[in-house]
Amino acid sequence: MSHVLLLEQRNFIRQHLRNLRRSLTEEQQQRAADMLTERAVSFEGIASAVHIALFIPVDGEINTLLLSAKFWKQKKQIYLPVLHPFAAGHLLFLSYTPQTPLVLNKLNIPEPPLDVRQIITLDRLDVMIVPLVAFDNRGQRLGMGGGFYDRALQNWRQQGFLPIGVAHDFQKVEKLPVMQWDIALPVVLTPSQLWQWE
Ligand SMILES: Nc1ncnc2c1ncn2[C@@H]1O[C@H](COP(=O)(O)OP(=O)(O)OP(=O)(O)O)[C@@H](O)[C@H]1O
Ligand SMILES: [Mg+2]
Repeated sequence: MSHVLLLEQRNFIRQHLRNLRRSLTEEQQQRAADMLTERAVSFEGIASAVHIALFIPVDGEINTLLLSAKFWKQKKQIYLPVLHPFAAGHLLFLSYTPQTPLVLNKLNIPEPPLDVRQIITLDRLDVMIVPLVAFDNRGQRLGMGGGFYDRALQNWRQQGFLPIGVAHDFQKVEKLPVMQWDIALPVVLTPSQLWQWE
């Protein structure tokens, strides 16, 4: 299939699923978050992890705030993505505690203020919880289109952390159109299922 057609298909899927996500009610979001949190804390890859990268939900993304509260209670260390100040398209991961103030970045996403002392290098991470717009039968992932997580996930096996996608159940599609830079996920958690590949 032509490149242009593939990109159009990807944008069509993005739009459709982002609309569905944004149309969820408070109650639906709350229920999804409760179920996801329960599933996540009992998943071995997370239970044994100490250093966990998470994200603040926007745009109808599954609510991870309950999960962060659980992690703090369990004395786990949480990190949030921060837009790299000069390497365009790259993320840094900074420590996030209940005391960390959050500021809106240029994409309108809350992030900790940049402070080099708070950066964790990816080789020290145990788990990276990854946002997504859609995932498929093989663990392929579609994000919001910036390629940020494709870059962050590029060498996850060598770095030694486990990427875990989290999403609402309806974000699963049969087969995504994949580009050569896309990095597939080994695990996806939804409110009602654990998906694992390889
Ligand atoms: N590893 C990479 N190196 C260079 N460019 C990349 C890389 N990964 C992605 N890109 C670029 O980023 C752009 C967006 O990629 P893509 O559509 O796969 O994003 P996404 O997976 O939907 O978003 P995200 O990963 O931010 O959630 C693409 O145009 C691609 O050129
Ligand atoms: Mg991608």
